[in-house]
Amino acid sequence: MSIQLAPSILSADFSALGAAVAAVERGGADLIHVDVMDGHFVPNITIGVPVVQSLKRVATAPLDVHLMISDPDRYIDAFAHAGAAMISVHVEVLPHLHRTVHALKALGVKAGVVLNPSTPPAAISEVAGDVDFVLVMSVNPGFGGQSFIARSTSKVAEVRALLDRAGNASAPIEIDGGIDQDNAPLVVAAGARILVAGSAIFRGGDPERATRELKAAALRALPSTAPASR
Ligand code: DX5
Ligand code: ZN
Repeated sequence: MSIQLAPSILSADFSALGAAVAAVERGGADLIHVDVMDGHFVPNITIGVPVVQSLKRVATAPLDVHLMISDPDRYIDAFAHAGAAMISVHVEVLPHLHRTVHALKALGVKAGVVLNPSTPPAAISEVAGDVDFVLVMSVNPGFGGQSFIARSTSKVAEVRALLDRAGNASAPIEIDGGIDQDNAPLVVAAGARILVAGSAIFRGGDPERATRELKAAALRALPSTAPASR
């Protein structure tokens, strides 16, 4: 399993999202991470279905839609039809998580479940064999530009072990929040394979270059699968 880099457009200039997507795609972005916030589950309001529809028209990379909303069951159909390739939902708001995961799959999108920093890996144990990916939050969701919570690295390893025990070795772990060139190698070594980054990509003024450099840093940490030379 290689590395996928998913720049979060939350930190981009919202008046020029098309240019932001084009820049990170030139830099080698594998996915475009879209942060949907409702001002209820998290203390911020961002974007909704019409923006995903517009992004779908300009993006070549698949759209990875992260729903930080209190009632995802009500909106997954709309986000799937708007063009999401992957949709992740927070376990903290879903009493019928198994039903939601299978509803996502029935819509033809990759089904992801998200763990807040205070939510233990065990919260997903009963759906670990069903999910297409797991998103480990390494900040408390709501805003870009926060500091990486160091405990997240060992949590990635715990979630990896849980997925493997459930027979779901092909489901990647995504990590989101405070990812930069310093901690990317650590989370990759722990087992993360999809890296979200917002401020590390967009705050420096050259998102194309930042994408290229962050992806290279993450790839360098990937355990080699090549046979050892004699
Ligand atoms: C946080 C969002 C993240 C955020 C990441 O609630 O889910 O995707 O945009 O931004 P950085 O990389 O700046 O932490
Ligand atoms: Zn996110």
